[in-house]
Amino acid sequence: MPTTANTETQGPATQEAAAFLRDARAGLSARPRALPGKYLWDVEGSTLFDRICSTRDYYPTGREMTLLPGVAAEVAARIGPGATVVEYGSGASRKIRTLLDALVRPARYVALDISWDFLKEAVDRLAPDYPEVEMIPVHADYSQPIALPIDLSGGPVLGFFPGTSISNFSTTQAVAFMERVRATLGTSWFLIGVDPTRDEDRLLRAYGGADGLMAALHLNLLARANRELGATFDLDAFRHEARVLPEPFRVEAHLVAVRDTACRLDGETFRFAAGESIHTDNSYKYAPEAFQDIARRSGWIPEALWLDELGVFSLHLLRSA
Ligand SMILES: C[S@@+](CC[C@H](N)C(=O)[O-])C[C@H]1O[C@@H](n2cnc3c(N)ncnc32)[C@H](O)[C@@H]1O
Repeated sequence: MPTTANTETQGPATQEAAAFLRDARAGLSARPRALPGKYLWDVEGSTLFDRICSTRDYYPTGREMTLLPGVAAEVAARIGPGATVVEYGSGASRKIRTLLDALVRPARYVALDISWDFLKEAVDRLAPDYPEVEMIPVHADYSQPIALPIDLSGGPVLGFFPGTSISNFSTTQAVAFMERVRATLGTSWFLIGVDPTRDEDRLLRAYGGADGLMAALHLNLLARANRELGATFDLDAFRHEARVLPEPFRVEAHLVAVRDTACRLDGETFRFAAGESIHTDNSYKYAPEAFQDIARRSGWIPEALWLDELGVFSLHLLRSA
């Protein structure tokens, strides 16, 4: 059953906390230990990521932004006037401005994100600059099926998924996500940013450095568990580490215990030996052909592909089959 996305309220906070607690308990009990990356994203996490985007080390934002104006003009010419744009993981809603500026009389902007308070503020900032565009903020988790609270028939529909967030999914998960997007959007176009980078030094600077903000983003996951679940993580007992791994090529994020430590959560004690890690996120790097294969397997037809001049970022335009 698709979850009906929530436009007005932030949805039952207690249900969210219950899901976080359930996933945290399961992840901390598992070996190796893991916490799902989707819990990185509350107001603190989203604010940290927004700062990461303007660091020199975090190349995906800058590289995508160099491509986007030209790409947006071409996309606008292909899809025509009156489009509804549905952005997945819209965050600070900055990149959408380039798209809305290029499109011919865009009708609606659906901004969909799991980080609801941050999303609402971002859309409030955007709306006055686009008075002709209906703004529809939607609180939803795109790792689940989503039924939008609007009728998408009657005009072109463009899905937009920038920021190489598709990288958080393995190939199997990416195919399932793209199938869900197709089910939600119906007959549509999909513009998606994908990172094909293989340069280990560049990756370690972006995912391990970024002025220490990457560490802060991942440690916020433990801080959030302390705030929202009453957990007792000692944040000083963990350090963030990015690991570049082959087969499939990816960057993993870990929080590694720097000494023996323990955390109480929901009446239970979780012990960590020095050196033990909690896996917090993945960033799979997809070469253009590999991503086009994912697209075809999930019912999308690759229509166009743009690669930045350094070969470290790509934008793909797809059409529903
Ligand atoms: C890497 S940031 C990208 C932000 C922005 N799109 C950009 O390109 O700069 C990922 C965004 O996706 C959102 N997000 C992460 N997991 C999500 C999920 N499961 N469902 C909905 N939104 C999610 C986060 O809150 C965040 O805004």
